[in-house]
Amino acid sequence: MPKKTIEDIDVKGKRVLLRVDFNVPLDVNTGAISDDSRIQASLPTIKYLIDHKSRIILCSHLGRPKGNVVENLRMAPIAQRLSQLMDVPVSTASDCIGQEVESKVETLKEGDILVLENLRFHPEEEANDADFARKLASLADIYVNDAFGTAHRAHASTVGVAKYLPTVAGFLMKKELEMMEKFLHDSARPSVCLIGGAKVSDKIELLQNMLRRVDILLVAGGMAATFLKAQGYEVGRSLIENDKLGLARKLLQEAQEWRVPFLLPIDVVVAEEIKAGAPTRIVPTTDIPSGSHIVDIGPQSIELFCSELKKCRTIMWNGPMGIYEIPQFAQGTRSIASFLSTLNAITIIGGGSSAEVVQEMGLTDKMTHVSTGGGASLRFLEGVALPGVEILLDKE
Ligand code: 3PG
Repeated sequence: MPKKTIEDIDVKGKRVLLRVDFNVPLDVNTGAISDDSRIQASLPTIKYLIDHKSRIILCSHLGRPKGNVVENLRMAPIAQRLSQLMDVPVSTASDCIGQEVESKVETLKEGDILVLENLRFHPEEEANDADFARKLASLADIYVNDAFGTAHRAHASTVGVAKYLPTVAGFLMKKELEMMEKFLHDSARPSVCLIGGAKVSDKIELLQNMLRRVDILLVAGGMAATFLKAQGYEVGRSLIENDKLGLARKLLQEAQEWRVPFLLPIDVVVAEEIKAGAPTRIVPTTDIPSGSHIVDIGPQSIELFCSELKKCRTIMWNGPMGIYEIPQFAQGTRSIASFLSTLNAITIIGGGSSAEVVQEMGLTDKMTHVSTGGGASLRFLEGVALPGVEILLDKE
């Protein structure tokens, strides 16, 4: 059922509690924002609210402070970046509930923005505490959820507040849901899902759901080792999930039954040590040396995957092809990202690592959609209902 958005509700002059996901990456040395894509992604919603004369009370979590006040996880630098991007003044509060916040909300004029302090400084946020949710909700007349990246969490600011306020989606939430829904239920065929990442256990439900929805499955990354092992190949010292070998065989079997090609790398880059500068070799997957680790896909696998991707009209990519954090082992992941950017197809990049690579390579604008939610897009594609979406009002 489609959900109501800010366009379906009168926001003029209203106090709007806007939940965004401004959980942006911070530079480990300087604490500066290293990628502001998530802030940029919510600008259309914020602009709309300004244009429609709302009083904007913006809230987000940042990092995982686990209910404590952590100085370098304060929202002030985020508010500052927002102010620069929007070219409007943005005020801040030293908490997200309480007297000071209430007074600041009182003084908000039409179009003003107040950024509340990190929601997760209160343990009640993640506990979805009813009293905390009620206090947050009491600041506003309307609740707008634009935090797709946090929609898989049932927290006070993503779910609890909806009990007290009319609840609608922002434009980012709307766009993310439309893209993912279309991919799951109405994609241009043939469609392919390219799945990478470290572990099979993280992607079981995704693999199972994709088997029933796409025409081709391509599987790489660390998790490919478990599938290769399940097929009887030796994978050296690569990480294997022994308890998932049976499941891997079952998934390969199911793919055959559903007649969905399930392709694994045919050659890989191996190294004896997982560290920058380690000597590497390219070997066929039938001949992985006993003392080595798979660190990336090889050139023939890149070619094979690209030829399959080229056949498809819709492509979903979730997870890196190798240990991309070490530049020497990032060739597979980067080549795939570059190739996708050249295709005349619908290209959807799941959030998290794949989105990070695409952003870092400056290819975001060349893709149809780069999700802002890692965990959230994964859950959605698994077919799980997201609590932060469930609470949105249905369109009549
Ligand atoms: C994310 O970065 O995936 C979201 O902001 C959710 O953060 P969390 O995993 O700490 O809940």
